[in-house]
Amino acid sequence: MCGIIAYTGGEDAAPVLFEGLKRLEYRGYDSAGIVTINDSGEFELKKQVGKVQDIHNELNLLDLSGSIGIAHTRWATHGGVTQKNAHPHVSNNSEIAVIHNGIVENYKELKALLVSKGFHFESETDTEVIPNLVEYWMDSKHLNFIDATMKTLQSLEGNFAVVLIDRDTRTIIGAKNGSPLVLGVGERKKNELFLASDIPAFLERTKNVVYLYDGDMVVFETDPSSKKRSYQIFDFRGRTERPIIRPIQSVSWNLSHATKGDFDHFMLKEIAEQVETIQKAAAQDPEHIQNITQSIRNAKGVFLVASGSSYHACLSAGYLFAKLASFHINTVIASEFSQYESFLKPETLVIAVSQSGETIDVLDAVKTAKEKGCQIVSIVNVVGSSLTQISHKTLLLNSGPEISVLSTKTYTAQLAVLSLLAYSLAGRYEEGVQKLKFLWNIVYNLTAATTRNKIKELATRLATHDHIFVLGRGPLYATALEAALKIKEVSYIHAEAFAGGELKHGPIAMVKKGTPCIIFVSRDTVKTILSNAMEVKSRGGYIIGIGPEPIESFDFFIKVPESNSLNPICDIIPIQILAYQLALILGHDPDKPRNLAKSVTVR
Ligand code: AGP
Repeated sequence: MCGIIAYTGGEDAAPVLFEGLKRLEYRGYDSAGIVTINDSGEFELKKQVGKVQDIHNELNLLDLSGSIGIAHTRWATHGGVTQKNAHPHVSNNSEIAVIHNGIVENYKELKALLVSKGFHFESETDTEVIPNLVEYWMDSKHLNFIDATMKTLQSLEGNFAVVLIDRDTRTIIGAKNGSPLVLGVGERKKNELFLASDIPAFLERTKNVVYLYDGDMVVFETDPSSKKRSYQIFDFRGRTERPIIRPIQSVSWNLSHATKGDFDHFMLKEIAEQVETIQKAAAQDPEHIQNITQSIRNAKGVFLVASGSSYHACLSAGYLFAKLASFHINTVIASEFSQYESFLKPETLVIAVSQSGETIDVLDAVKTAKEKGCQIVSIVNVVGSSLTQISHKTLLLNSGPEISVLSTKTYTAQLAVLSLLAYSLAGRYEEGVQKLKFLWNIVYNLTAATTRNKIKELATRLATHDHIFVLGRGPLYATALEAALKIKEVSYIHAEAFAGGELKHGPIAMVKKGTPCIIFVSRDTVKTILSNAMEVKSRGGYIIGIGPEPIESFDFFIKVPESNSLNPICDIIPIQILAYQLALILGHDPDKPRNLAKSVTVR
């Protein structure tokens, strides 16, 4: 998804914005641009298709002058990947520049209105209507920049985070409506202010953040005489004239969380971090867990709702709730949730699981549930994210920023938190805490170099294949789904997961000599899943076993000690490493797979 960074302060803006863009690259993008206001009050703007560093090598982004500016990485939605469609976009009178994340759903009507008023457009984007609407309101209704912007924001339909800059008043305005935007407040003596899609973009310069809410419009102004910079927050929907006060909070992250350190890629770093992050996820406030457990007990109908890897974590948890607590929980893909709307009542509890807290399908599902009066619990990694703001209660993963597009440490953290809830529901909370603590040693060994080297051998063998089967039963069927997603996302090899029992209902027709088949084995499923393995092997398949004990029929074996109900947490780790190794062998960037974004914030 698009990345936004804005700066006003006492230093040159270009280096701050350039660094911010690089910290936002993980969000996925195909073009980028920066605009600053120089000391003569003119815009200096550069933008291009391609990676930030390549654009800089071509255009030199650092020679843009001025101490105020905005910058953007674009993930194309409306309009192709072209230089003209890259952000920032400027109004016809060259006085207003805008960067935008989201979609202006009614842009065609707005564009038609502006064209009828004599405006022209350079790009194919929806975004370009925004600066021209502000110009239109300023000219036709003699409004100032702030009021014209407020009127413009009120006319936009759809989710967005948008930042505008006015050349004459050197004012920056940021507004949040369903897409992420956070305010950074520099140290007092530096008197600098930031806006960004995500905290890592300015984390190097301040840890003081203000989490913005939907409807918030932040105005950065510079006093013309004292040159002092300040901000105010308003409700752009016009519900309050008075400024809104939001607390300044200090994030616990430090820059090492948002940099690769000694690792070649964030994906490998975050896989290795699981030794700690699983323990951090398990270290929840017992009272908070008990409180949420009681909400589950009191509910009449409970839904787990998520997308992608988070959905696989929920699917896995569903088995655990049944096995440990004999509790039936409905697990639904977020984008399918509206199909179940008729079941939603005020007594229904919806548990929304999302690492980013910005996935549009999950936000839509939660909004549907809230309209029905449902209670909302969310399990989220990003503090202050949109999902936390619309939930009644939130459990935090405490995994630190996950920069790689692939969900690894936050997936196992979600499993840890969901496992705790299942144990708590069964009245066995302490047992759950202890069992999670026990995983430390297993995860440490699984992420060690010796295991990684063995898996590299397997990756070399699998890299030449076009199809990979993945089989599992019970909660390890969910693990098989997650394993297939990991492999697909970053190697682009077609991997497909099946519940072991489904093999003979069709998929086995695809098995031929050499077909690789990854089999997850646990004490509970060993008998049945091995018969599946033999069915594949007898047809020439190449069997990769993942589990506590080697079996003679395995052609390749990765040992993962039995951890019973918590097998899904450990069993996925070898596949995370396999996916990473496959990407390297195939020459892909594990942190930025093609076509993917870290958070899917547009429908
Ligand atoms: C996982 O590797 C993918 N990046 C993707 O499936 C992701 O899990 C999904 O988009 C959900 O993201 P969320 O947890 O931030 O809601």
